Amino acid sequence: MIKKEWNFCYESGIIEELTTTEQELVQQARQAATEAYAPYSHFRVGCALELTDGTILTGNNQENASYPCGICAERTTLHYAQATHPRTPIKRLIIVAENPNGLTSNPLPPCGLCRQSLLEAENRQASPLRIIMAGSHEYWAVDSAASLLPLQFDAKNLG
Ligand code: THU
Repeated sequence: MIKKEWNFCYESGIIEELTTTEQELVQQARQAATEAYAPYSHFRVGCALELTDGTILTGNNQENASYPCGICAERTTLHYAQATHPRTPIKRLIIVAENPNGLTSNPLPPCGLCRQSLLEAENRQASPLRIIMAGSHEYWAVDSAASLLPLQFDAKNLG
């Protein structure tokens, strides 16, 4: 038996260190969060993504009285992009969240289901998808969705 290690690297900084375009995307994601439908959790998540042709799309979480029917902001926005621009790769995606006290100070890492969907999107477009998680001041970023999932399950596993 040998022990194997997963090496995870991510960028961490303050929002002002992002490029102007990325700071604008953070603003758009924050605006999208305000329109979330989250009457049960009161946790509003916003997402903004940029396609390689410069198109920007936004989305947010959509909850349901039957809780499992709800969907996260990341998957709402990803599927919106894939339904409307299926042949244009996604360059980057920003995630923000606010609770009843305002924007979260900690950046919001995507949940497991969203990581799986982000990985599928990245594999489908065959180019890296940068993910930026932004808190009120701090951000974390990875240059590829794959880096958020060790021991991935994807199409290759279906044989
Ligand atoms: N949520 C997201 O939209 N994205 C995440 O990555 C984590 C959780 C939503 C789902 C639910 O509407 C609320 O936040 C509380 O979990």
